[in-house]
Amino acid sequence: MRKLVLAVLAMLAFTGTVAAETWPAHLITIVVPFAAGGPSDAMARILGEHMKQSLGEVLLIENVTGAGGSIGVGRAVRSAPDGYTISFGHLGTHVANGAIYKLGYDLVTDLEPVVLLPSNPMIIVSKNAVPATSLKELLAWLKSRPAPPTAGTAGAGSGSHIAGLYFENVSGIKLQYVPYRGTGPALNDLVAGQIDIIVDQTSNSINQVRAGNIRAYAVTDSKRVANAPEVPTVDEAGLPGFHMTLWSGLWVPKGTPKEIVAKLNAAAVAAMADPAVQKQLENLGLQMPPKDQLTPEALGAWQKAEIAKWWPMIKAANVKVD
Ligand code: MLT
Repeated sequence: MRKLVLAVLAMLAFTGTVAAETWPAHLITIVVPFAAGGPSDAMARILGEHMKQSLGEVLLIENVTGAGGSIGVGRAVRSAPDGYTISFGHLGTHVANGAIYKLGYDLVTDLEPVVLLPSNPMIIVSKNAVPATSLKELLAWLKSRPAPPTAGTAGAGSGSHIAGLYFENVSGIKLQYVPYRGTGPALNDLVAGQIDIIVDQTSNSINQVRAGNIRAYAVTDSKRVANAPEVPTVDEAGLPGFHMTLWSGLWVPKGTPKEIVAKLNAAAVAAMADPAVQKQLENLGLQMPPKDQLTPEALGAWQKAEIAKWWPMIKAANVKVD
């Protein structure tokens, strides 16, 4: 019997090695847990286009939305650990959701970290109809509303929702959240004047700000965004210390062979090192991750540290999800 078990284990190990050596043999799917047209979708498409060159296979973006991104992450978690399904996510989906939803999976033990991706501060934006030209005037207008002003999000637990909770904490202003399947659709409604504000990823709103279709008041960082120097920081504008960076990352299901994780990591790192890709991402206000934070282990450690940092505030907010 013992010989049979050893033979089976050897065969499984051999099969895994063969699979890793011949990987990838067909297209790879990146599950983006938010709607097309939003910041997650944009980053995944830019990086995926370059990774295709390194890996020699198409990286197909599949937008699987709902429940603050947790449905899409669940889809990836439950896929085969063969390197053909990647989970794209960020602070909201791979940290906050664990404090809000009964996920049916564990964000740390059911996923393998692959690589930390670019990050950006949030930006406080409003519809153009708001009669404010500074953050102080915006805060006064929001406080003067007869009912809680409306804030677009990508659903409970999304980055824009966590940023809204943080904004409520520091400003003392209660918001009425309006959930969308991503901040792409939320931004369309802000431009149309259907909602009052979004505390959005800079990468999502910056082009509408530049076009004059919405109004920006501050970025949630201690320094201004290099290619949006006209937007003050929260420290300059009147909400000192309201700092929040939304970072993104790639994960694969637990059990994916280490050799495949390494190949995916190398392709993503090569994409982020490409000058044309860097220009596309930096033009959206995104910053490349530090060079010493590009290993799978670095993303794993970062995710755990962010869970320790954010869960107490999120749990204290007692977010109700239906
Ligand atoms: C978020 O708010 O979590 C993201 O910006 C949503 C998205 O990428 O659409």
